[in-house]
Amino acid sequence: MTGIALRSRWNEHNRALRALASPVSVLTAEHDGRRHGTTVSTVTRISRRPQVLGACLKSGSVLAALAVAEGRFAVNVLSGQQGRLARWFAESSRPDGPGQFAGIEWRPSPYAHAPLFVGALAHYDCRVVGSFTVGDHEVLLGAVVNAVAADGDPLISYSGDMFAGTLIPVAESEDRPFDLKETVPS
Ligand SMILES: Cc1cc2nc3c(=O)[nH]c(=O)nc-3n(C[C@H](O)[C@H](O)[C@H](O)COP(=O)(O)O)c2cc1C
Repeated sequence: MTGIALRSRWNEHNRALRALASPVSVLTAEHDGRRHGTTVSTVTRISRRPQVLGACLKSGSVLAALAVAEGRFAVNVLSGQQGRLARWFAESSRPDGPGQFAGIEWRPSPYAHAPLFVGALAHYDCRVVGSFTVGDHEVLLGAVVNAVAADGDPLISYSGDMFAGTLIPVAESEDRPFDLKETVPS
């Protein structure tokens, strides 16, 4: 395969992988007086019993290093009104340490003592139960120690952009959507 063909296949794979719509969160951690927040779109529930979340962070992520060192971290699931926070905690020019939280309304989580943002859709306070490297990312696993939910619309990452707005429920139809006779082998 030529270099051009390989590049075009890579681009097509990237485009396809961007079809994964996901909620936007800011992970926060505090270790040795160093407080940090990082925007991610990779928080997902891994296990229901026990309740364990996973997040994927780029190799060398400051957040992952602090969370693992402290053994704790917090998750702020952002609401549709918090796009500005998402952009800020992805901004490479934001100050290091506590200064990056200046002007933001937050309180410390009871377990990880990491920032929880006012107005978030949900907060999780987590104990690190694992971390391992896959390719160029680090997977961080956290058992949920405390969780609080609020009402509102989520902030969604999709196709390289962020979206906020009312979610439209999928209408339930009286009709059977598929003809089972055609799909079930006799
Ligand atoms: C909507 C959005 C989603 C993101 N998702 C991730 C993600 O899942 N993992 C990641 O490592 N970086 C993600 N980023 C980029 C990080 O927020 C950014 O590179 C961060 O400054 C680097 O992490 P660190 O501060 O922990 O070193 C995302 C950025 C945006 C705007």
